[in-house]
Amino acid sequence: MDRALADAGVTNQAVIDFVTQWAEHTGAERMEVVSASDDARLLQEGLDAGELQPVGEGMYYSRSYSKDTARSEERTIVATADEQDRGVYNNWKPSSQVRPVVEELMKGALQGKTMYVIPYLMSPKGSDLDELAAGVELTDNRSVVLQMIRMARVGIEMIDDLGDNFVKAVHVTGDLENLQQGTPEDKRNFVTVADERTILHYGSSYGGNALLGKIAHGLRQASYDGWKNGFLVEQFMLLGITDKETGKKYNIAGGFPSASGKTNLAMTLAPDALGDRFYVEFYGDDIAWIWVDGDGVLRGFNPENGVFGVAKDTNEKTNPTAIDAIQPGSGAIFTNVAYNPKTQDVWWEGKGPKPTDLDGWMDWKGEVIADRAPEHADDPWAHPNSRFTTTLEQVPNVAKDYDDPKGVEIHGIIFGGRTRDREPLIRAMDDTAEGVYDGLTLGAEATAAADGKEGVLRYDPMSMRPFLSYGEGDYAQHWLDVIGRAKNQPVFAHVNWFQRGEDGRFLWPGYRENLRPLVWLMQYRAGEVEGQQTPVGVIPKREELLLDGLDEQALADLDTVLTIDKARWQEEMANREEHLGQFRDLPEEIWEAHRRVNEKLESF
Ligand code: GDP
Ligand code: PGA
Ligand code: MN
Ligand code: MN
Repeated sequence: MDRALADAGVTNQAVIDFVTQWAEHTGAERMEVVSASDDARLLQEGLDAGELQPVGEGMYYSRSYSKDTARSEERTIVATADEQDRGVYNNWKPSSQVRPVVEELMKGALQGKTMYVIPYLMSPKGSDLDELAAGVELTDNRSVVLQMIRMARVGIEMIDDLGDNFVKAVHVTGDLENLQQGTPEDKRNFVTVADERTILHYGSSYGGNALLGKIAHGLRQASYDGWKNGFLVEQFMLLGITDKETGKKYNIAGGFPSASGKTNLAMTLAPDALGDRFYVEFYGDDIAWIWVDGDGVLRGFNPENGVFGVAKDTNEKTNPTAIDAIQPGSGAIFTNVAYNPKTQDVWWEGKGPKPTDLDGWMDWKGEVIADRAPEHADDPWAHPNSRFTTTLEQVPNVAKDYDDPKGVEIHGIIFGGRTRDREPLIRAMDDTAEGVYDGLTLGAEATAAADGKEGVLRYDPMSMRPFLSYGEGDYAQHWLDVIGRAKNQPVFAHVNWFQRGEDGRFLWPGYRENLRPLVWLMQYRAGEVEGQQTPVGVIPKREELLLDGLDEQALADLDTVLTIDKARWQEEMANREEHLGQFRDLPEEIWEAHRRVNEKLESF
């Protein structure tokens, strides 16, 4: 075991101690320290072992167990020694209670198996946050290693000089067919011991539960670290829009709940949209770490190295950029889509026409589609939360400075989600407290990214509900403190691509067309358009939006998505009061913002 560490060039004694201790505890038979340069070999091993199937040249398919296809929010726990860290949503438990439970589950669990050691950095190398971005994930699962290589910067050289400053992350897949997922005897435990910077996840191989660098560290642990160290960690996409006519560039960060459009927004606003006047660059699609630098500039970066995108409805028309990023040779890994071993092809709902020749096709559960019983004939072929994993390098419009450790200035912060009524296309807010209040009261339909939640309307503060690591009142105060330090306050906005008509259709075409409201927001911030005041923010006047090329139906529906329904909003305000009322120590500034909006609504 020690040889494996020495051979891999690990000299950091804290890493050696951590790895050795867990190798003993789990009883691992072999150990392997991995780096990004091991990718080709590990892929081949995965193919040989039947864990991966080839998708054309240089792409791969992996299927996870059918009860293991999404994050489990019930089984996700934040543990610390201090009960003051208990929030409404973080499922807080004392670490003294939960840590022994998971440790017991992991004891001896790797007998006869390989323990992969994945040193990683959740940041571009060389940032001031390196010490908080470093981690070591231990896992028994080769597919997890391959996905981590895509999603994080992996290799001992990333962290060997950082001493004990790394997150200790342990992942054990467990016997997936015997974990009683979703029952009262559920054995899965996904624990972040935030004040010990330790992550212990047992019982899943799905990315959202098993890629510990990405979600458990990059969001959950890091939000705790950010709170203690003066920066924000959010489930945000990050993109840049340059207006070639004026030469101005604006960077916009934004939070929408999982599977609500972040990846598409960050990727699909391609340069040719709107008559080639704008240039859009991709920085990140799921996580942003945000701080105020020594000059008082609000900045942020994407700590990830890849994209973990929802497959459903990804096609040439909705997201050509994503399609370009998952081409032969890209190294992309698809999970839980439909697969055809004969043609080595993949398919998902909304990819394009459904294959008419069923020969060879298997659905996401691995069942032969041609053999389906009549009552299952119309079942989806792919899981609604099926995914592709690819690296940022593969994204054609990735910004040149995407891995600049200094990050980029952030000019605007947007919130959104799947809201079928009430929320207009876009409403801008100049007041920081009202913007933060708006994030805290983000209400949207939950999606298939979380087990058993699809369609449920719920509040999801800043889209961080599943990742919050401490109390919501403290979180709100931290937001006000960090943003308050910026010399230039960002403009805030709430967006909604998902308003529906009475017949259930989306009133806004979305995807690439979402550039139009964002351009309006840039122009609003620059004082080039004035919009119309409403109690819940400034919404565009119809003629201020660039409408060239928008389809007939969208033009006909436009007035509806640019309207505020007073009665519906007043109803909402009562719900918000209840929602915010649950939070301990909510800053008075947030309550004041709530009352201000309420009063403006009364007299609207
Ligand atoms: P993320 O999980 O927040 O990154 O969301 P994604 O961008 O992966 O999108 C999740 C799902 O919503 C996918 O099935 C997308 O096709 C769909 N989606 C994304 N953007 C839009 C949009 O503007 N309009 C509509 N109708 N669907 C969208
Ligand atoms: P998403 O990422 O936000 O792109 O869906 C995965 C997740 O949040 O579970
Ligand atoms: Mn996410
Ligand atoms: Mn995404």
